[in-house]
Amino acid sequence: MTEVPEYLFERSRQRRVALGLLEDDGGGGAVASDSADSGSSGVSSGPSSADVIAAAKADAKLEQVTHTEIEPEWVTAANTRTKIPMWVLPIMFFLPLWAFVYVKMTEPPPEPVTAMTEGAATYAAQCASCHGGNGAGSEGGGVGRPLYNGEVLLTFPKLDAELMLWLTVGSEGIGIGNPYGATDRPGGAHISGETGANMPGFGGVLTEYKIYSVARYIREVLSGETLSDDEIAVRDAEWEELGGGKDVSGGHGGGGH
Ligand code: HEC
Repeated sequence: MTEVPEYLFERSRQRRVALGLLEDDGGGGAVASDSADSGSSGVSSGPSSADVIAAAKADAKLEQVTHTEIEPEWVTAANTRTKIPMWVLPIMFFLPLWAFVYVKMTEPPPEPVTAMTEGAATYAAQCASCHGGNGAGSEGGGVGRPLYNGEVLLTFPKLDAELMLWLTVGSEGIGIGNPYGATDRPGGAHISGETGANMPGFGGVLTEYKIYSVARYIREVLSGETLSDDEIAVRDAEWEELGGGKDVSGGHGGGGH
């Protein structure tokens, strides 16, 4: 049996009183009665082992209480702050995908390629340098013949094989000195090479459907040919028959086979 110093025992007793585990009888009295109970163990003075254990338990209990009551402020901050809920995580994950889809959906869809848009693009790329953007040709300072004010319609009254041949083979393909187009046109038939400049052939540069669509462009837009809806539908079908409308990139003047 180890001797417990009296002051420790007294401190323990006071704590037990403070915790309400013991009636406060004024101090030393409790010590005297406790030691009297443990007289059989051979120790005349000092607390019994039961008292020591109880005191230790009380001490432990006291320490535990103070430990939980005082927690560091950063722990308090971590426990009380608003946390990001778990369901936000998938939203955060899909946010970039949503942004991508959103931007894609607000973009205007690509312009569909029609015979007219294709013909206009081909004309700008392959013909305007000699015939002018508006088809004025030599009247506007260009090398080629005028294609505006109905001029194309006078030389080539129909969109037929003769016009297609002219655009495909050019002045030399027809043969310098040979007439081409309508021989009864106002001012007389046009003769290949009579302007002093030669028109190149485009058979090696443009596909057939691009020659067809540029032929439509110089007739319907530059020369102002008037057509019924049915006639336009027939030409659109002819253009598609030749392979037009399948090149989704569109707008490229050259690139024939
Ligand atoms: C290098 C200059 C040049 C380019 C490029 C050119 N042309 Fe010509 N074009 C001419 C010349 C020059 C003539 C007259 C030919 C002649 O006198 O033999 C002509 C004549 C024509 C004619 C006949 C007009 C008439 O009333 O006799 C048509 C139609 C025509 N060009 C359409 C086109 C088209 C369509 C393109 C583009 C695919 C084109 N040309 C590109 C120079 C050019």
